[in-house]
Amino acid sequence: MLKIALTGGDGLVGSRIIELLENDFTFISISQSRMDITNLAQVNAELKNLDFDIFLHLAAYTNVAEAEKTKDLAFKINRSGTQNVFAVVSGKNKKFIYISTDFVFDGKNPPFYEDSMPNPISAYGFSKYEGEKIIKNQAMIVRISYPYREKYELKKDFFRTFKSFLEQKKPLSLITDSLMTPTFIDDIAFALKYLFNNYSSEIFHLVGSNSLSPYQASLLIAEKFNLDKSIIGKTTYKKYIKDKAPLPRFAEIKSRKNDFYKMKSFQQGLEEIKS
Ligand SMILES: NC(=O)c1ccc[n+]([C@@H]2O[C@H](COP(=O)([O-])OP(=O)(O)OC[C@H]3O[C@@H](n4cnc5c(N)ncnc54)[C@H](OP(=O)(O)O)[C@@H]3O)[C@@H](O)[C@H]2O)c1
Repeated sequence: MLKIALTGGDGLVGSRIIELLENDFTFISISQSRMDITNLAQVNAELKNLDFDIFLHLAAYTNVAEAEKTKDLAFKINRSGTQNVFAVVSGKNKKFIYISTDFVFDGKNPPFYEDSMPNPISAYGFSKYEGEKIIKNQAMIVRISYPYREKYELKKDFFRTFKSFLEQKKPLSLITDSLMTPTFIDDIAFALKYLFNNYSSEIFHLVGSNSLSPYQASLLIAEKFNLDKSIIGKTTYKKYIKDKAPLPRFAEIKSRKNDFYKMKSFQQGLEEIKS
């Protein structure tokens, strides 16, 4: 069985990957308390004698809004942390997979494929792109976009955020003139299963099969879970982003390379969660 060592294994995405694939691979999850990726000495000490085949690097500073205020920390974790882990893993001649984001794109001329030119507009996007640059052409980069799942106590994704607003009948005001590409995390896990077994030093997009506006996404959630959609208000991109972290407007992300796992549309993902 392939041994996959990973950072971020208790996060939103990583914990589901382990849950779904634990019978297919041996996972060695290295938590922040054991190894702070910004501390090279700690990374060296932890990984020096560790036996694994592939290193899956998910750990990141992921708070997009906060990253604008704490840029140094975001860059320390997403750039220097990635640099530290990659240096030690590549020194051991092991395979490395960096999980990245659609936020490396500017959202101006969609769609965005694996070979589209990144041009981040937010501190988070910049810091993740810096991580990509460290490993580009030497290891695998997997970009994901708006990941969501049925349950996870520690952090709400956009799907559970919208759903809980609707359940509590709290008014929502959502953008009608922008695009997002929601990705069912279970699909990310199953597509990664293929990539673990068919590794190459390339960029892959593992993203949902359709893009829609946040407003349309919330209507679908309301319809699927029989919630009152009359409380969903509309806003424009321009109004919404005022005083907020820059948000790529047309985040229509696609893949030319994923011919190995059929990713669900947002409707299909909701269907699966409901059933
Ligand atoms: N969530 C999204 O919307 C989204 C979208 C696109 C791409 N991504 C990418 O997908 C990956 C996983 O995201 P996620 O949402 O699952 O993340 P998450 O739930 O926010 O978890 C982040 C993980 O990183 C760990 N971490 C943070 N700083 C660390 C450090 N200095 N040393 C070691 N570990 C550290 C955290 O450990 P603690 O639990 O100890 O804090 C946690 O396990 C990230 O690379 C992210 O950039 C996420």
